[in-house]
Amino acid sequence: MEVLIFNNETAASEYAAQEFSKRIQHKATTVLGLATGSTPLKMYRELSLLHQSEGLDFSKVNTFNLDEYIGLSGDHPCSYKHFMNENFFNHINISESNVHLPDGMTKDVPKTCQEYEEAIKKVGGIDIQVLGIGSDGHIGFNEPTSSLSSRTRIKTLTKKTCEDNARFFNSIDEVPRHCITMGIATIMEARRIVLLAFGEAKAPAVSKMVEGPLSAMVPASILQMHPNVVVVLDRSAASKLSHHDYYYRVATNKPNWQRL
Ligand code: PGA
Repeated sequence: MEVLIFNNETAASEYAAQEFSKRIQHKATTVLGLATGSTPLKMYRELSLLHQSEGLDFSKVNTFNLDEYIGLSGDHPCSYKHFMNENFFNHINISESNVHLPDGMTKDVPKTCQEYEEAIKKVGGIDIQVLGIGSDGHIGFNEPTSSLSSRTRIKTLTKKTCEDNARFFNSIDEVPRHCITMGIATIMEARRIVLLAFGEAKAPAVSKMVEGPLSAMVPASILQMHPNVVVVLDRSAASKLSHHDYYYRVATNKPNWQRL
């Protein structure tokens, strides 16, 4: 697991955007795994700017979002579909038919989940996946105790996640209790994973994910088993890591061929 610590969220987000941009320039049909929440916002803004100023071309790109709330339609202001449109898709030249999010209004959840898995496979799998991390160590909406070999399915959100996400709603009572989320095994099949975490509130979860034991109680710790992950942090999110010196040493001594 590579750990990169930046001075601030802006520098970290620009780095992550460069990772995505380079992949898309290298392969026009790149399949992106995308996340919602506050964490990837600056990265999406940077990628939108790269589209507008340098013509970064999303016309052949496919995207798959990690999750969606059950019971919210795509035009609901708190749905993840709406979030993605507002914060990313409306600012780039992505084709609507290449955008995928689980359907939160489905009448048949298992079928929708199965079809989501099949749709990912049909385009050849996810090339690069961005992840945030919950303060409870979740990735996607795979809450603590999620099966580490889970696939796309329904999950019940923890009280803590509902509290964390209540800021997007008028009140906590409006936060849906259920979601459809890619499973942990689904996420682990992405060829490259870029996990972003910013701010002090994420420091305990980041420390458990990177330096703690592998455990379903910290779903993000499964990333220790992934061969191609970079953890991109600001100083605050990195503040509880104990091997700082080594992470800096790796970053400073990287051979040129390993750099972006
Ligand atoms: P956040 O959420 O980006 O809003 O902090 C991350 C997550 O819950 O995975």
